[in-house]
Amino acid sequence: MRIFIEKDYDAMSRRMAQIIAAEITHNPACVLGLATGSTPEGAYKYLVDWHKQGCLSFQDVLSVNLDEYVGLAPTHDQSYRYFMQSNLFDHVDIVPENTRVPDGLTKDPAAFCAEYDAYIRSLGYVDLQLLGIGRNGHIGFNEPGDCFVKETHVVDLAESTIDANARFFATRDDVPKQAISMGIGAIMGAKKVLLAASGAEKADAILGSICGAITPHCPGSILQLHPNVAVVVDEVAGSKLKAAGVSVCG
Ligand code: PGA
Repeated sequence: MRIFIEKDYDAMSRRMAQIIAAEITHNPACVLGLATGSTPEGAYKYLVDWHKQGCLSFQDVLSVNLDEYVGLAPTHDQSYRYFMQSNLFDHVDIVPENTRVPDGLTKDPAAFCAEYDAYIRSLGYVDLQLLGIGRNGHIGFNEPGDCFVKETHVVDLAESTIDANARFFATRDDVPKQAISMGIGAIMGAKKVLLAASGAEKADAILGSICGAITPHCPGSILQLHPNVAVVVDEVAGSKLKAAGVSVCG
């Protein structure tokens, strides 16, 4: 793993965006595995800026997103499709048909999940997979549990995830209780992974994922088995790595 500890959220975002832009430049028809949430928002702003400056084109890029809330329409302002449109897709030249986000309104979740995995396999898996991380170590919405789930699946969100995401909704009761999430198989099938985190509340999840036991109780820990992972964190999210003596880039 290459680990970058940046001084703050903006520097973390810039580093993330540089890695994503490098992937697109190197391979204009790459498949990006995209994430939502506060963590990648700043990176998407950099990518939009660079696109507007004429430095970056998404014309041949394909994207697949990690997850979506069950029950939210794409037009709901807290759906992950809406997030992707408003933070990235509507501002760059990506072809709409080349973007996939799980369908939170699917009437047949089992068939949908199987098709989502088949589509990812048909692309030869993702070239660069972005990941945030939950305070409980989840990646995508692969919540801690007794086993890793390989396939795209419907997941019951952990109470701690509902608590963490309540900040985006009018009340905690409005937070959906389930999501569709890409499984560990598609994430680990990616050729490269970019894991990012900011904030002190992520320090334990980052430490556990990078230095802890490989266990489904900390889903991010499986990334220790992936051959090509870049970790980009701000100083507070990375504070426990320094204390543990982990060697970092730069
Ligand atoms: P966040 O969420 O980027 O909003 O902190 C990350 C996650 O829960 O995976």
